Amino acid sequence: MPDLRIASPDKATHAAASDRLGRALRDLRISVTDRCNFRCVYCMPKEVFGKDYAFLDRKEILSFEEIARLARIFRELGIEKVRLTGGEPLVRRNLEQLIEMLARIPGLDLTLTTNGSLLERKARSFKDAGLQRITVSLDSLDDGVFRRMNDVDFPVGKVLEGIEAAAAAGLAPVKINMVVKRGENEASILPMARHFRGSGHILRFIEYMDVGHTNGWRMDDVVTAREIIEMIGAEAPLEAVDPNYPGEVAERWRYRDGGGEIGVIASVTQAFCRDCTRIRLSTEGKLYTCLFATAGHDLRALVRGGASDVEIREAIAAIWAKRTDRYSEIRTAETAKLQKVEMSYIGG
Ligand code: GTP
Ligand code: 5AD
Ligand code: SF4
Ligand code: SF4
Repeated sequence: MPDLRIASPDKATHAAASDRLGRALRDLRISVTDRCNFRCVYCMPKEVFGKDYAFLDRKEILSFEEIARLARIFRELGIEKVRLTGGEPLVRRNLEQLIEMLARIPGLDLTLTTNGSLLERKARSFKDAGLQRITVSLDSLDDGVFRRMNDVDFPVGKVLEGIEAAAAAGLAPVKINMVVKRGENEASILPMARHFRGSGHILRFIEYMDVGHTNGWRMDDVVTAREIIEMIGAEAPLEAVDPNYPGEVAERWRYRDGGGEIGVIASVTQAFCRDCTRIRLSTEGKLYTCLFATAGHDLRALVRGGASDVEIREAIAAIWAKRTDRYSEIRTAETAKLQKVEMSYIGG
């Protein structure tokens, strides 16, 4: 029997719901837009996400009030961290208003993942609104490589300015996510490591994944976390660090000379499904229990259909109680071809 322990419908119990594999519900990732001003080759290839691509319509997407209400309900179910994602979350207008609403929910670790392109002018207002920290995606310091990978000719210098603005505003620690794709940016691994060593920011290398069904993923394109750690360790000795919390996605390493910390996210070669406490809410209010899901659960219908908080909470608890997802543990070349939800829609 799943242990839901909802004692009183009026009171937040913060009791952890447990899925079929005994995993608690702890992290909520909220996608606030399916749009992005980049067309990263591994995420939103231009051939698919071109002029005619049908993004969600305004009336289809959850309002800030609807999102905040759901977040409060999720908090009652034991959620401890909320991460805002996209697409690119900063292209959603007035995002600081949503941050302010979410920051009012007690006991939440509130953070956001961005491509950094619009961050410089937003960092301060996000901090003032109550955002605690931030993660910036950055795949190369080489301007040519970066422009080719974002595929909209966006210069790397602007992203670096965004990172510094975030740190100056106190959105610390800033984490930097680099997706490594063989043949695209593995030559950028060492320059990235050198650049961020001693900066106080935490650089994490992500194995390229078969998310969605448009990026043409092949195992040969994956540069493994092991290779990356060996490459950096050969230049600057590293030692392993214990996780910050059970089920942390990144494996942590630190420079032996005190130059700070890096991480690797080995979701392909060392799956971390066993401890996966994450749930994802799409821009239009569909709930996904796995990044690689092929279908979601429509919460918007409940929200707009007049369901009470208790009814919505029970619906979410029932969805989580049935969860058996462990895609990364069972990935094959065949599963990679499934019609999974797109990364730009669900936010990574
Ligand atoms: P913090 O520890 O709170 O900083 O967050 P995090 O490590 O979850 O960081 P973030 O959300 O930036 O995740 C980093 C990347 O890891 C994502 O962009 C994904 O590429 C990958 N990732 C995160 N969660 C999952 C997951 O549940 N499954 C898989 N396969 N990959 C994930
Ligand atoms: N594999 C791994 N990470 C990816 N991201 C986007 N697509 C992929 C992929 N195919 C990352 C982005 C960003 C986060 C939202 O997800 O670079 O850091
Ligand atoms: Fe790139 Fe992120 Fe935009 Fe995808 S959502 S195209 S990874 S910036
Ligand atoms: Fe969680 Fe699914 Fe990722 Fe496994 S593949 S860690 S179950 S989101």
